[in-house]
Parts: sequence; C-alpha cells; structure tokens
Amino acid sequence: MRVHVADHPLITHKLTVLRDKTTPSPVFRALTEELVTLLAYEATRGVTVEEITIQTPVTETVGVKISEPRPLVVPILRAGLGMLEGMVKLLPTAEVGFLGMVRNEETLEPTTYAERLPDDLSDRQCFVLDPMLATGGSLAAAIDFLFQRGAMHVTAICLLAAPEGIERLEAETAGKDVTIVLGALDEKLDENGYIVPGLGDAGDRLYGVV
Ligand code: PRP
Ligand code: URA
Repeated sequence: MRVHVADHPLITHKLTVLRDKTTPSPVFRALTEELVTLLAYEATRGVTVEEITIQTPVTETVGVKISEPRPLVVPILRAGLGMLEGMVKLLPTAEVGFLGMVRNEETLEPTTYAERLPDDLSDRQCFVLDPMLATGGSLAAAIDFLFQRGAMHVTAICLLAAPEGIERLEAETAGKDVTIVLGALDEKLDENGYIVPGLGDAGDRLYGVV
C-alpha cells in the first residue's frame, strides 16, 4: 500500500480552517470541495491514458486521453458525498458509484446500508472518497468490496487519517494495489475512535447531526 501525505501550504491552510470548530457548514462544505480538487491532482497521477493524434491549428501532434473503461469514483455516504463535486471537477468523464456505510459508535464496526455500483469492475481504476480514515474499518470494507467486484486498482482520498487506521489498512489490503492520498496524518485516535486533533464528526459538520 502506498501512502501519500500532501505537503502543500494551501492544503494545510484550508485544513486548519476546516478543523476549527467555529467554521460553519457552508464554509466547511466549500473547503471540503476545494481540498478534494487539490488532493485529486496527486491521486490521479497514475490514471491510465492512451495516446491520440490530434490536429492543432498549426500541425498534427500526439497527446493523450483517459483510457476506457472510465475511472469509477465512489464516495462513501454520507461524508464522502461532500467530496464528490471537487473530484468530478478534475475528472469529469469518471463514472460514479455509491456506497452507504455507517460506523457503530460503540463497537466502531461499520455496516453497509446502500450500494449502487457496477457488478463488474474488471480493469477499473477506482477512487474512493471519504474525509475520515479513523480505525480504518469503513475504508477497509469499501476497498474489499471493490476488489471483490474485480477492481484493478483502488486509490482512496481522505482529508485526515489516524496512524491506527493506516496500520489496519496496510494489514487488510496486503498484496492488493492500493494507494491512500491524505491531506494530513494526525496524531492518534481518542477513546471514542475520533481522530485527534481531527475535525470532529465530518458527516455532522457537512450535513448536520442525525
Ligand atoms: C465516518 C467517516 C468514515 C468513518 C470513519 O462516517 O466518514 O466513513 O466514519 O471511521 P472508521 O475509519 O473508524 O471506520 P460515519 O460512520 O460517521 O457516517 P456518516 O458519514 O454518515 O456521518
Ligand atoms: N468519523 C468522523 O467523522 N470523525 C472522526 O474523527 C472519526 C470518524
């Protein structure tokens, strides 16, 4: 598993505002979208392309286009939905599938309550969106789901992660082609499974308390 932690002052600046508990939902949503677009630039570095010949006004030249099958973007509901617009801005031809997952706040185990994905993901590059990688349970289950359907490669984009979650993912995805792109790697998890210093409950901050 490859882990890439973004090292860019704009990303750290935007994350600082996102972490601030006084940042209201509309600003939180806008920043989430902007951060994803910045992280997507790194996350799509390995997107599969093929050569095409085009005619400029001056001459014929060779460029590239994104290969078929088109990449699949999979936001994990709810909080991952806040990242979708920022991602498809950079990758407008991608298809989008959905996974609904919720973590039991006592056991910290995830359950899947919704799934809308192609049955066959053979040869597909998949981009999973979830702002928080805490224990890693939700992301590990999502990645497993995609590989079971035949995905060739999975890249997850997360705004924040805890070292405990990265360790778990490394163990659970051993031997699979997985890349994790992070806005920041935080210190630890607290006794309730929240990322420290973190930003609190991402879903609630985006969409309100359920
Ligand atoms: C949050 C977050 C991740 C999960 C991370 O979702 O968006 O999906 O928790 O925790 P984990 O790494 O320990 O599994 P949550 O379950 O709160 O659902 P929500 O997005 O609907 O708020
Ligand atoms: N889910 C969140 O939304 N935040 C955390 O810190 C951990 C899990």
